[in-house]
Amino acid sequence: MTAPAQPVDLFDLVIFGGTGDLAVRKLLPALFHRFVDGQIQDGSRIVGVAREALDDDGYRQQVRATLNGAAQSKPDKLDAFLKMVHYRPLDARKDEGWDDFAKLMGECPSHVRVFYLSTSPDLFVDICQRLGHYGLNKGESRVVLEKPIGHDLASANRINDDVGAVFAESQTYRIDHYLGKETVQNLLALRFGNALFEPLWNAGHIDHVQITVAETLGVGRRGPYYDHAGALRDMVQNHMLQLLCMVAMEPPASLSPDAVRDEKLKVLHALKPIDEGNAAQLTVRGQYRAGAAEGQSVPGYIEDLNADSKSKVEKSNTETFVALKAEIGNWRWAGVPFYLRTGKRLAERVSEIVVAFKPVPHSIFTASAGPLAQNRLVLRLQPDEGVKLWLTIKHPGPGGLRLRHVPLDMSFVEAFGVQQPDAYERLLLDVVRGNPTLFMRRDEVEAAWRWADPILAAWAASGEAPRPYTSGTWGPSAAVALIERDGRTWDEDYE
Ligand code: BG6
Repeated sequence: MTAPAQPVDLFDLVIFGGTGDLAVRKLLPALFHRFVDGQIQDGSRIVGVAREALDDDGYRQQVRATLNGAAQSKPDKLDAFLKMVHYRPLDARKDEGWDDFAKLMGECPSHVRVFYLSTSPDLFVDICQRLGHYGLNKGESRVVLEKPIGHDLASANRINDDVGAVFAESQTYRIDHYLGKETVQNLLALRFGNALFEPLWNAGHIDHVQITVAETLGVGRRGPYYDHAGALRDMVQNHMLQLLCMVAMEPPASLSPDAVRDEKLKVLHALKPIDEGNAAQLTVRGQYRAGAAEGQSVPGYIEDLNADSKSKVEKSNTETFVALKAEIGNWRWAGVPFYLRTGKRLAERVSEIVVAFKPVPHSIFTASAGPLAQNRLVLRLQPDEGVKLWLTIKHPGPGGLRLRHVPLDMSFVEAFGVQQPDAYERLLLDVVRGNPTLFMRRDEVEAAWRWADPILAAWAASGEAPRPYTSGTWGPSAAVALIERDGRTWDEDYE
């Protein structure tokens, strides 16, 4: 039996970008699920803010349409949830409407205030300055910044400085929703709650690590944002580096926010540079062309951009796929490659971390026993979150000693019988509770950009276009060559 979830304090959560993709697909459903589970008390308020001229009722209708699927069996809950929902039309760059918004906020002075900036990073500073100007950073207030923070180190620094002029670092929550995923936190439990793994968790015993985040979706309505970002800024600089840090960090002294973040920061500082001198050997960029996704034919990236934008795009140099080989220059990881790959419109939606151990030093088995495979620990983030440990055993029965490679397989849904909550559910309530452990500190974001910027610069300097790949495949063949050159292959358990 799991203990019932504890309700959080009364809060006002303001979503800037309240009609946007993230609010609709993730934030509002996450809040609804926490409400249904009794963690959000009546009296808390969710305020959507965007430029659209809507009123409370108009926004509630939009939210109702968004949540209808999730709320099918709970129509009364949906009605109660919608009573908490409000809307104020605001433009971050104009004063109109801000007095009215400030008045609304002033109605509940004792509530924890969360300002969630689910907008383009260009607006973060304008919004924070106005929040400061209208005296809204009062009492227990926090600001949540969606990634990416800027588009390079210099712009991230500017944003952090200017946001920091209004909100203290302790009030600033830089969200990376991958840190809220169940399996990522489970990595902490597996590594530091079991005596088995930590003694082997180093270059002496680990051959390499793979991190794959593959999506079947294309860029959808997010083309205008995505075309300025690309996969390195959108996924690698944040989500994938955070996963890498969780695998590679030293044991923190405790789970206190700074103990964990200090250890992740050391990993980021120890990443070996990838720049003009080695980017061509260590990185592969791709861009999807028309193909198939989940049995349907789908257009290519350029067609997707044109479906969204008013101007006609003929060509784009933006990558929708990245594979790269990273290395961490410290005693624990010297010489252990970390292969990272992520892309849109790939063959399957799957995210996993594979820790591949070194082969046994000497085989006592004859050739007739079959090949000896490496042990692998596979942490599946999605879909079907779980952990698999691949072991070698004897094939049961008579007929000589034949080896088999089999997984000890634990799917969380099968083992615990519950669907795991979405990452945003945990993270949103962590903000209300004031727990920043799973959020990125300013120095982490900066260190990640410091590593990513030279890769972007090397790509720009090369002038090479991303390699085309057909939608529904595993990306450009150069990504296969990247790992096969080292005598290894991408994990193919699901391929
Ligand atoms: C977001 C990226 O941060 O993560 C998106 O901006 C991406 O491009 C998404 O699709 C993936 O998240 P998840 O939780 O669906 O794997």
